Amino acid sequence: MIKTLNYDNLSRDDLIYLLQLEDQEDLKELYSEAYKTKLKYVGNRVYFRGLIEISNICSKNCYYCGIRCGNSKVNRFILDKQEIIRSAKWAWKHKYASLALQSGERDDPEFVDFVEDILLGIKEFSGDDLGVTLSCGEQTEETYQRWRDAGAQRYLLRIETSNREFYKKLHPEDHLFDKRLECLKLLRKTGYQVGTGVMIGLPDQKAEYLADDLIFFKDWDIDMIGMGPWIPHKDTPLGEDHPEYDKEWLMSMGIKMIALVRLFLKDVNIAATTALHALDPKGREKGLMAGANVIMPVITENEHRGDYLLYDGKPVCDESAEDFRLALDKSISSLGESVAYGIQGNSRHWQKRVGKM
Ligand code: 5AD
Ligand code: SF4
Repeated sequence: MIKTLNYDNLSRDDLIYLLQLEDQEDLKELYSEAYKTKLKYVGNRVYFRGLIEISNICSKNCYYCGIRCGNSKVNRFILDKQEIIRSAKWAWKHKYASLALQSGERDDPEFVDFVEDILLGIKEFSGDDLGVTLSCGEQTEETYQRWRDAGAQRYLLRIETSNREFYKKLHPEDHLFDKRLECLKLLRKTGYQVGTGVMIGLPDQKAEYLADDLIFFKDWDIDMIGMGPWIPHKDTPLGEDHPEYDKEWLMSMGIKMIALVRLFLKDVNIAATTALHALDPKGREKGLMAGANVIMPVITENEHRGDYLLYDGKPVCDESAEDFRLALDKSISSLGESVAYGIQGNSRHWQKRVGKM
């Protein structure tokens, strides 16, 4: 049985111990504690973020990622403005109340203008009704400010790992850990709700690193967490060196991290990400039962859906966005949870921090 722990005040050693739990009964107890904490701090409502993958063009070359610029096999695309606005309107009409726009990283003026223009286009038809989260990588303070002024309220920039030396193993030399930290500071300074996250189950990643990731989230007063298991992509250096992976283990590590974020940070928003779904058709639901409260379904319907392949086996939905919404809604209800339509679902943690609660 799990040793006696004070779940309200977990130490680094407790986190390391919990990250290494394997016994099914122990894990059940952990998830049930995390679920209780979720009910207490954020309730049993699930927030949908309509995800629009606007472009897979990326100037970076992270060793783990399928759309890294060094992968010449990728069919590169950028959606046009009309298509993005059409999807945003669909989300609005279906009361998603919040969107997430994601792309590879580019900092050229044309791209910066493009994102700004889209944000203004969304604001034009929805006013303040639609919350927008951006996930477009490292940018200058000026760019973050421009996008903020154009209507984005939240930004997700994963630190990927909070361990500086490990970060170096996962990225080329010119991808700087300090720059990433600086960007997280700039996002806070320019007034965003700030999200970050890590990959879980990477080769050579130790339980200690993940415990330190959790402490990093707390120390940096993060509002939202989006993290998921690492899954190899065959056309990446990391995937080539480590083609084998243990789905079950990755899945349990992913769920454990969700539970530990909920227990350790309590009132943040936590996404049950697509990587969980890639490992297990019920992955998202398991994430919700371990403490997650956000789901980000892809809402674009076009021929590029299959080109945003960060890892092999990423589920590409061939249903319409509407069929997918209905199926997800039903499965969420069967868990005793409900979708919070029409509510933006700002992070409670952020609300407390800025005095809006
Ligand atoms: N497996 C899982 N997640 C990945 N990401 C990139 N490559 C992979 C992979 N092979 C994640 C990174 C990045 C986000 C867009 O996708 O964490 O921040
Ligand atoms: Fe580009 Fe992000 Fe992939 Fe790195 S993880 S290659 S920055 S899309």
